Amino acid sequence: MSRRIVVKIGEDVLRKRAKEVTEFDGRLAELLDDMTETMIFEDGVGLAAPQVGVLKRAVVISPNGKDFYEFVNPVILGHSGKQICNEGCLSVPDIRGEVERPKKIEVAAQDRNGRKFTFKAEGFFANICCHEFDHLNGILFVDKMIRKKGK
Ligand code: NI
Repeated sequence: MSRRIVVKIGEDVLRKRAKEVTEFDGRLAELLDDMTETMIFEDGVGLAAPQVGVLKRAVVISPNGKDFYEFVNPVILGHSGKQICNEGCLSVPDIRGEVERPKKIEVAAQDRNGRKFTFKAEGFFANICCHEFDHLNGILFVDKMIRKKGK
């Protein structure tokens, strides 16, 4: 595993639609391992592949620094409720702000071996999923921010 550099706002790669993963191979495994290592080093709760300059639909999430999740080709199947989330982003230094997100979501995705699964998330986990999945479509939280917080 090796740590990768996190791309910052202003770089084109953060604004493009990431491509579906079709090869579930060693390169994908290495990418996911590197993303997790980078997320831990940067003290983040989630990281999307475009944030390390790779236009693939792959995301890693760790809501608590102990449990680690990987989502390849994630799709939100349904959502309900609303929550106001206080968000930041490793690609958007020094800005935090409030974003409205669904309270609950249901997601379909694949694991690193291509196996399909669905899962339900709510609260903070749903918040992170929505933020990270937006990265796969070139969307940053500042695009949806309803109120800036802090500095
Ligand atoms: Ni982000």
